[in-house]
Amino acid sequence: MVAYSREVVSEVLAANDIVQIIGAHVELKGAGPGRKKGLCPFHREKTPSFVVSIDRQTFHCFGCGKGGDALRFLMDYDGLHFVDALKLLADRGNVRLPAQSAAAESQDGIRKQLLEFNESANRFYQKLLAHPERGTGGRAYLDGRRLRAETVSRFGLGLAPDDWRVLLDGARKKGTPEAVIQASGLFKQSEGGNVYDAFRNRLMFPIRDVAGNVVAFGGRALDDSPAKYINSPETAVYRKSRVLYALHEARDAMKREKYAILVEGYFDALRCFDAGIENVVATCGTALTPEQASLMKRYVPEVVLVYDGDAAGVQAAMKGTGVLTAAGLRVRAMALPDNQDPDDFIRDAGAEAFRALLADASDFVTFYARHSAERLETIEGRTEVAHELFDILRGIEDAVRLDEYLKLAAREIGLNEWACRREFETYVTSGARRGPAREEPETPAAAVSKDDRDFLSALLCDASLLAKAQRVLEGRLDTVRGPLAEVLALVFAHGARNLDSDFESEAARRLYSAAAASGADEMKEPETLVTKRLNRLENEALRAENATVMNQIQEAERAGDAGRLAELLQRKLQLGKQLERVGAF
Ligand code: UTP
Ligand code: MN
Repeated sequence: MVAYSREVVSEVLAANDIVQIIGAHVELKGAGPGRKKGLCPFHREKTPSFVVSIDRQTFHCFGCGKGGDALRFLMDYDGLHFVDALKLLADRGNVRLPAQSAAAESQDGIRKQLLEFNESANRFYQKLLAHPERGTGGRAYLDGRRLRAETVSRFGLGLAPDDWRVLLDGARKKGTPEAVIQASGLFKQSEGGNVYDAFRNRLMFPIRDVAGNVVAFGGRALDDSPAKYINSPETAVYRKSRVLYALHEARDAMKREKYAILVEGYFDALRCFDAGIENVVATCGTALTPEQASLMKRYVPEVVLVYDGDAAGVQAAMKGTGVLTAAGLRVRAMALPDNQDPDDFIRDAGAEAFRALLADASDFVTFYARHSAERLETIEGRTEVAHELFDILRGIEDAVRLDEYLKLAAREIGLNEWACRREFETYVTSGARRGPAREEPETPAAAVSKDDRDFLSALLCDASLLAKAQRVLEGRLDTVRGPLAEVLALVFAHGARNLDSDFESEAARRLYSAAAASGADEMKEPETLVTKRLNRLENEALRAENATVMNQIQEAERAGDAGRLAELLQRKLQLGKQLERVGAF
């Protein structure tokens, strides 16, 4: 997978400081010599268990078990591919990367080319919208929707004219490789094999990733086409579940306001920006995914859902609420009157009225109960609503928050608090229904053995202990069980600093990052610890060898091979002495 040599990767890592890279996203505080600590960005937590080791240039979360070097952080945090993370850090550290193998180049190349092509298609669509003759229809439509020119240009809106090949011809004339045309998602092919533009007679919305790259397009019909909106299919640069419309533009305002407004449509998002409300993102016709929720969680602790006030809208809001709470976000919700969407509402009533509703938006429990008023009139209905709420509440790990919500639920549903709490417990333990997917740590932190971790940590901190371990264990690593063997092999080969890409198994990588992040200062007597563990490992190795020799002795006896037998008995004797020296454990 890795097309770059270990030396290059090392050089790139050495040219960067992991504290700065992680510190840009996570608030880190000092935590003993050589270490910093913060709240893990990969799972929900209230007390920091995410540690960055300055000496080793690694991170590790003792809560969820994620860990690795700066490259791994960028891959996990920003969803980057290895090569992209490497390039980013190379740029940052002013390291020049050597040319890669052809295969790697082409994989990486197609992504780059697709982004460039999307960018040029976007410029092309924008030009067409501005074109004195060809853009008239599109501009007339936009005029009707009354957006400021500034908003239109900020979001790069464009026009795909009513034409089967205008983008295709342009692309071919510019010499765009067929592979790029095929992979872009902007074209379709008829059964007869004719390629044509997928977006025609549509107002075009470039969809950007967090970094601002145009990864896809949405297009709104300018006529009464049955598909009011169409979107690019997934491509090498577009994964629908990971993209939120307007997030790139909304990021700063989200951080400032400490919450995000989540709307459904392109125009809803644009209208908000147009009215000066910039902490807004849109899902654009797809159900909210856990990835999108975690994406928001990076910037805000809270989301306000804005949906149509009709039953379908409220149901959609509740689905979204489940996904958002499971990602650790607080959720409020509001509905707009008369089936209006935010676009309609702000146009009619103005931004101030919208802000007033926002300020008034209630927590999702209250929101849901109030919109289920009819059902609350019967006992069955009340139970139903309670269970629907419990399904969401079970995704909340924070006990204080859960308690608050249960109180609210009791009040809104008209149960007494204790009964409500008891109902909830019963509901959760009986596992009556599956709640929204909880964001479980991928591998429980317990997967890293504390013994292994402390032992390694001591070796990493003290070169003489490491040398000793190497003397004792070299050539015997095949008798060491679990991920420890792989980590020891690498540490013996490379010393204390290892690269993520050195590891073959996830378990070994985690063990290493856990050890690297553990403070040796916390360890009372590293020497004793290492000696004991080495004795145990040596003991295990000797026993394993002993067992093998015993088997071989039996074989030699059966085969009547006297010479071999003598040799083996001699070896067994030696082993017995060695075992005695190490001591029984
Ligand atoms: P709506 O149908 O609520 O439309 O779809 P809207 O946003 O109010 O559109 P306008 O105001 O008539 O232009 C909400 C969102 O759902 C997606 C689009 O992202 C749209 O913005 N959608 C809608 C589709 O993907 N396909 C469709 O056919 C309709
Ligand atoms: Mn609308």
